[in-house]
Amino acid sequence: MRILSGIQPSGTLHLGNYFGMMQPAIALQEKGEAFYFIADYHSMTSLFDANERRKNSLDVALDFLACGLDPKKSVFFRQSDVPEVCELAWLLSTLTPMSMLEKAHSFKDKSAKGIPINHGLFAYPVLMAADILIYDSNVVPVGQDQKQHVEMTRDIAVKFNETYGETFVIPEPQIKGETAKVPGLDGEKMSKSYGNTLEIFGEEKLLRKKVMGIKMDSRTPEEPKPDAEKNLAIELLKLVAPAETAKDFENRLRAGGLGYGDLKKGLFEHYWNHFAEARKKRAELAANLDYVNSVLADGATKARALAQKVLKRARKASGLE
Ligand code: ADP
Ligand code: TRP
Repeated sequence: MRILSGIQPSGTLHLGNYFGMMQPAIALQEKGEAFYFIADYHSMTSLFDANERRKNSLDVALDFLACGLDPKKSVFFRQSDVPEVCELAWLLSTLTPMSMLEKAHSFKDKSAKGIPINHGLFAYPVLMAADILIYDSNVVPVGQDQKQHVEMTRDIAVKFNETYGETFVIPEPQIKGETAKVPGLDGEKMSKSYGNTLEIFGEEKLLRKKVMGIKMDSRTPEEPKPDAEKNLAIELLKLVAPAETAKDFENRLRAGGLGYGDLKKGLFEHYWNHFAEARKKRAELAANLDYVNSVLADGATKARALAQKVLKRARKASGLE
């Protein structure tokens, strides 16, 4: 089974990225042949600062390796180190109906917010389909918001196979139920673009301030709270604390007597400790960038060899060769 996923280097990674995509992807490296990449081509649709892209790409590499991506088990690389994916995106684009792309959330959400749409953003799902199909991927672990893109990939692959003969493997999205949508500090979906994130790696004081600043209602500490399971701090605690600890906080909140300040303090401690080991590893990696770059170079060589093979298959099938 081949597993593939990617993440854009468009900002600092947060708990939504971690629990929605990185953690499930890292767990899957034990289950098959995993290919994970830094989607730097995709980041060009919304980030126009070259130095920032360079810095973010390195940060994503450090974050992923620190969180447990094991280069002995996974092929880890930069998307743009395999330029074949752009050629495949062209082949696929000629079989992609405009009406399908017009339905894509990636473009509709930004358009609704008044963000000017470039062609790359509109064609984003086609490049993503090429990413997935060029590695004969079976399973694509992503957060809920990417499900539509994987479904489009399936449709495009089926259309290609029907038009030019069996060429592509049809992939399946894999979405982890309970963490499909990690809430942000304001209760909405945690997202870089909403400014409501808790970063995986950040400065302690700043992160503590963010957690302590989570808005709660005006009920007194003594009041029982029958809706304790809907409390945002409880939802986040369930991700970062052991199950019994989170349950204990929830029960105390429900019964009355636990103040929101103490709840948020508890949340911060567990959140900070959850990533203690990864933080240490990240500092070690940051001091050894030659190693990190060699991992990416090695990943690129392996990924590219496979991509060239699959692209050739698609070129032959479609009469380019
Ligand atoms: P952002 O919304 O911050 O820009 P991305 O769109 O770059 O994040 O998402 C990268 C990966 O992380 C995707 O697989 C996405 O589904 C997942 N992800 C992002 N935010 C969340 C969230 N709040 N809950 C669950 N998964 C998320
Ligand atoms: N669109 C994905 C995101 O924003 C990133 C991505 C690009 C991706 N290509 C992919 C994810 C292929 C999975 C498979 O999160």
